[in-house]
Amino acid sequence: MIFHSSVQVLGRFPSFDLETIRTEQSLARVPIAAAMKAGPAHAAFVSALPQPWRSDPGVEIFSRMLWLKKGFYPLAPHYHCDWYLGPSKPKVETRMVLLGDGSRTEFVMGSLELPDEPPGSVQIPNRAAEQIAEGVRTERLRTWFLEPEQLVLFDSHTWHRASPAETSGWRLLMRAIRGLPKEGQDETRHGNPGPFTTVRTGYYPHTPEEQRRYDAYLR
Ligand SMILES: [Fe+2]
Repeated sequence: MIFHSSVQVLGRFPSFDLETIRTEQSLARVPIAAAMKAGPAHAAFVSALPQPWRSDPGVEIFSRMLWLKKGFYPLAPHYHCDWYLGPSKPKVETRMVLLGDGSRTEFVMGSLELPDEPPGSVQIPNRAAEQIAEGVRTERLRTWFLEPEQLVLFDSHTWHRASPAETSGWRLLMRAIRGLPKEGQDETRHGNPGPFTTVRTGYYPHTPEEQRRYDAYLR
């Protein structure tokens, strides 16, 4: 199947100072009404949702408030798609904004042809990583970095990965998700809320010494 990987920039999100951002809550896939109480930035994010999203009871808000040290990642930096349900399944949409300092998400722009396999297969991400590296090298694909305060829309066929924080600081990522299967019909490994939606900071070793020290945690 062909993944059309792209991001649409919808506009600029209002500025919030870091003292405000650091007091926002992290939300693990909650309904819109609950997100209104998670802080002023969350309230602004929810208020900016278009009416069809606001009136859709299936829309969920998922956010992460992190403090990242320079060089740390908000999650393991492998290419992936958010909420991919399978080759013939409907797409899930995400509206997202990044606030504060730290890591910018790197998106892949262009089309990738990958095996028709269900989510959870290791073949798809492995093949995608190879294709993305080759596509970028030959300029058939390009990557694009999300900037803070850019409101974006993408779907579950959009490949992306985390990048290391450029400075130490607070980072808030807020997203609204539309089109996820209802609880009990979720065929993916993403439970609701599930371990994927817990809050954590990811560390990724770089130097040979760091990799040796970290090796024990990978077993
Ligand atoms: Fe993601």
